[in-house]
Amino acid sequence: MKGIVLAGGAGTRLHPMTAVTSKQLMPVYDKPLIYYPLTTLMLAGVREILIVTTPRDLSAFQSLLSDGSQWGLSLSYLVQPTPGGIAQAYVLGADFVAGGPSALVLGDNLFHGDGLVERLNSAVRAAEGGGATVFAHQVRDPERYGVVDFDSAGRATSIEEKPPKPRSNWAVTGLYLYDAEVVEIAANLKPSSRGELEITDVNRAYLDRGRLAVERLGRGFAWLDTGTPESLLDAALFVRTLEQRQGVKIACPEEVAHHMGFIDEAGLEAAVARTAGSDYGRYLARYLEFGRIG
Ligand code: TTP
Repeated sequence: MKGIVLAGGAGTRLHPMTAVTSKQLMPVYDKPLIYYPLTTLMLAGVREILIVTTPRDLSAFQSLLSDGSQWGLSLSYLVQPTPGGIAQAYVLGADFVAGGPSALVLGDNLFHGDGLVERLNSAVRAAEGGGATVFAHQVRDPERYGVVDFDSAGRATSIEEKPPKPRSNWAVTGLYLYDAEVVEIAANLKPSSRGELEITDVNRAYLDRGRLAVERLGRGFAWLDTGTPESLLDAALFVRTLEQRQGVKIACPEEVAHHMGFIDEAGLEAAVARTAGSDYGRYLARYLEFGRIG
């Protein structure tokens, strides 16, 4: 399974913070935003990952993440010349996906909750067997998202992008797993009225073929996006609250890489050296000495 992190976009709602830098490089408490979706892919066992970003921000992402080998990953990069929509990731990234299954995560989405890893693992297995899996979460303002409705048996019946009158409060989150057919589906999409290739149209194509699984993430899960100043601060406070209370970090790529067996003790030691002098580095040093805390 390959992975794509979509880290482009205009970041209009975060102006002027995004006037010279990318939204996905904004801090969420103690680490850059992109660490969160990146570790979600890592927890799903994905190691070969494509970062899609803007011409302006490419070099900053390369400086931050390099080739990924420090975390046992293989990272590559692709430029999206203009924000042509989320589904454009599969037009631009067709060669990268190369006929296999893939996971796409939005670079500004944060997932957290007990049992997430098992849910990810079963979604990966399902996508490897064919079809698509997306995750839905209840929100107060579904009209801002792709919205999915279910029949009484819990099967998805419709999926609509930003409906003025949503049929449910279940929003489709920014994590999508697809089989190889996604490339052909994306290639045949027409831009929507807002001029974007819509990921909701991809998901509807799978729904129409009877190949879309919608996994509901219950209230024990947190799904946060960070597109506005308010939601960016909310995400930071959420992370700070949990990390300070528990003494364990959310979305620490070094820890996740070690836990997943992507790096060994020597890799962890190198990470401690790189981050020395910060609380983050002290956390890694403690992890190196005492092992997994929680
Ligand atoms: P959005 O939040 O929908 O868009 P945006 O980031 O451009 O922000 P704004 O609406 O304030 O202008 O995007 C969701 C995620 O997908 C985010 O991580 C950016 C990314 N994205 C791209 O990389 N390319 C695109 O063409 C689009 C539409 C989004």
